[in-house]
Amino acid sequence: MTAQIIDGKALSKQLRVGFRERVDHLADQGVQPGLAVILVGDNPASRVYVGNKIKACEECGVRSFHIALPADTPQAEVLATIARLNADPAVHGILIQLPLPPHIEPRAVLEAISVHKDVDGFHLYNVGGLVVGNTIFPPCTPYGVQLLLDTTGTDVAGKNVVVVGASNIVGKPMALMLLQREATVTICHAKTRDLAQHTILADILIVAAGKPGLIVPQMVKQGAIVIDVGINRLTDGPNAGKIVGDVDFDGVKEKASWITPVPGGVGPMTVTMLIENTLRSAERTLRMRQADDFQEWEAPILKNG
Ligand code: GUN
Repeated sequence: MTAQIIDGKALSKQLRVGFRERVDHLADQGVQPGLAVILVGDNPASRVYVGNKIKACEECGVRSFHIALPADTPQAEVLATIARLNADPAVHGILIQLPLPPHIEPRAVLEAISVHKDVDGFHLYNVGGLVVGNTIFPPCTPYGVQLLLDTTGTDVAGKNVVVVGASNIVGKPMALMLLQREATVTICHAKTRDLAQHTILADILIVAAGKPGLIVPQMVKQGAIVIDVGINRLTDGPNAGKIVGDVDFDGVKEKASWITPVPGGVGPMTVTMLIENTLRSAERTLRMRQADDFQEWEAPILKNG
């Protein structure tokens, strides 16, 4: 059996068509959604990711504010930039690209972002919201994975889900979201002994380890759904320069029932969900303006069922 492809590029495109309508609706009310993206330093990969985010804003009619700060910018200056953006009504979302230079404490910076503009979902308020089953802004990559899983028509309740990678950006929030949907979730990480012993039991295997070729066919259960979050540029060998995931795609596709390709799987969804969260923030702000007693803290997508 060859797996069916979960096409993140196509789903992103479809979602972005819907975004245009929402942007037009907001424009009718005098609001243009705005996203501020802060990049400290010049990490080449971060520059590419930030460029993709700015491009997506342009494509979707979202105003972007690209703030590039030198690598030696003092933390106090980064915090002052965030305070200015928190107070700017034209800005509905604020994202600071990670990783940050070593002299900057990531938590201090992430906690400085207003919870109302935390479209990355990394503020402790949003992280806590994930733990109790509702959050204003779900983190973009796991949110995108959840929508990709939905396209397979699979109900995750009761399924064995194995998440490989325990990062704050992907692995941990992903596990919490799937737990909320009543999956039986295992998180594996760099210290996990005998990874295959866990992955072989997965009905749904989500891999976000940043290690090309980590998952080979022998580690995958027949008929599993495999989601590859890895984005790795090969540095040597005959395929040097090629972008690959963490999964041996050609081998594993012969065992899986569904699989995401790299590129064209999770990657485009991450940026699309960032735009979704920015639109949601602009819509929330508008509703807050219109109703004094506004109280909507949950992201409906995370509710059970
Ligand atoms: N670095 C890698 N992924 C991400 C992400 O989703 N958001 C931010 N802010 N930085 C990242």
